[in-house]
Amino acid sequence: MQIRRLFEHQDLVVASLLEATVWGASDPIPPSLLSVFVHHGGLMLGAYSRDQLIGIALAFPARDGERVTYLHSHLLGVLPGFRGQGVGESLKRAQRDWAQDEGFPYVGWTYDPLVAANAWFNLSVLGASVASLKTNAYGRLTDALNRDRPTHRFWVEWSLNPKTSAQTEGPVRMMLIPDDFQAMASSRPQYARDLSDQWFETAQSWWQDGWRIRGMERMLDGVAYRWVARDGEGVKPKGDELF
Ligand SMILES: CC(C)(COP(=O)(O)OP(=O)(O)OC[C@H]1O[C@@H](n2cnc3c(N)ncnc32)[C@H](O)[C@@H]1OP(=O)(O)O)[C@@H](O)C(=O)NCCC(=O)NCCS
Repeated sequence: MQIRRLFEHQDLVVASLLEATVWGASDPIPPSLLSVFVHHGGLMLGAYSRDQLIGIALAFPARDGERVTYLHSHLLGVLPGFRGQGVGESLKRAQRDWAQDEGFPYVGWTYDPLVAANAWFNLSVLGASVASLKTNAYGRLTDALNRDRPTHRFWVEWSLNPKTSAQTEGPVRMMLIPDDFQAMASSRPQYARDLSDQWFETAQSWWQDGWRIRGMERMLDGVAYRWVARDGEGVKPKGDELF
């Protein structure tokens, strides 16, 4: 497998088709807009098996609320037949190397916190940190992965600075997520919508009470977020809890 930086129009056409395949989307980012990104400060990486494009990672510079310029990672997708083989991780490591060389302080992106594969990938494989929660971040999206649900998201930041140590000790709560939320959303869409709303509401109330996510754990029936009470936030610890 090889990682290459994409610039050519024909490569961007294939990248746009890959997005349509991975997300089951009828409206992927058009090659003309991808071209704007890659020729004006953005980064489109492609993973190739022989000559076949099997994964993409798209990112561009952006400003955050503190007016810090960071690298915003907008798309990461690997074709279903090539997942679980480290392709996603290789794309993100290459993105990280580039961001570090360019002097960005961190890479930031959102993900659906109920999708176990993405949660595990972002927090455990990459070691990114949940920095905030965004209610219905993109409105309703109609592609096959989002299926017209409100887009509740976790915002993660992947620091490029020498490791800053986050507090990991203290009272702990675990919050389980379904093993395959997307399969559930496909067979029981209304149930998945309600679960997403309720689960996110609970996550927000824990966040507001001063709890923070410090990694994930594999459990018998899936993976769970590990929440730790933040010091001095007026948390009333109730000991270990399983939501
Ligand atoms: C997210 C995605 C890019 C990961 O790509 P990938 O090539 O499979 O990633 P890797 O092989 O490098 O790592 C996958 C990790 O997730 C784990 N994983 C996969 N499914 C899982 C599940 N249901 N529960 C828990 N962990 C899971 C794998 O075991 C592996 O972790 P490990 O190395 O600790 O075993 C890919 O799943 C994808 O394209 N998803 C659809 C698009 C999408 O949702 N993109 C948004 C990404 S935030």
